[in-house]
Amino acid sequence: MEKIKLGPKLPRFVLPIVAMGANVGGKPNYCAVAWVTVIGNDPPMLGLVLGKGRKTMEGARENGTFSINLPGTTSAMALDYCGLVSGHERDKSEIFTSFYGTLGSAPMAEECPLSAECSLHKIVDFGNTEMIVGEVKESYVDENCIVDGNPDIKKLDPLIYAMLGGPYYSVGNKIADAYKIGKDFRKK
Ligand SMILES: Cc1cc2nc3c(=O)[nH]c(=O)nc-3n(C[C@H](O)[C@H](O)[C@H](O)COP(=O)(O)O)c2cc1C
Repeated sequence: MEKIKLGPKLPRFVLPIVAMGANVGGKPNYCAVAWVTVIGNDPPMLGLVLGKGRKTMEGARENGTFSINLPGTTSAMALDYCGLVSGHERDKSEIFTSFYGTLGSAPMAEECPLSAECSLHKIVDFGNTEMIVGEVKESYVDENCIVDGNPDIKKLDPLIYAMLGGPYYSVGNKIADAYKIGKDFRKK
């Protein structure tokens, strides 16, 4: 197969998009973040890469806490709004119904089936962007999304974002068991 050169640009990854939440001046604010990664699992840490000047980051700095909320496909419109409009321009405190967990200051979105509250571990500066690393202190999942004791991907129905610029997708079918199917691999 011939390969087409696309130039030095970011690849068209697909990423689960989240709503990052933080209290700014005592009010919840949420922004859409697609650049999310796992940093480690013991302790459980996640990193979010944000452009400079996001209002939600102000809140994370102010309180030392923030949340990560995984929207279902039914929340596509609300999530997209959080990504189109900044809290610097408009009040986004009512977009989601906020609830609070053990940290007390990280607003989480009731409408999202999976939320995690994080304490701010560190912020790494990359010039135009910065990565906020949070340690997950507790996570919350809708009761009806649990199957055999674990959050079920089909039931969570997460919103998937295709770089660069969309669209949003839903998750497709299960293909195979990870850490298992490869054991039988033989090059043809
Ligand atoms: C689909 C989508 C993905 C986005 N991903 C990111 C991201 O990964 N990092 C980021 O800093 N901004 C991202 N944004 C932009 C922010 O969500 C946007 O600038 C938002 O208005 C910031 O809100 P705030 O200033 O209230 O925090 C994304 C927006 C959309 C629509």
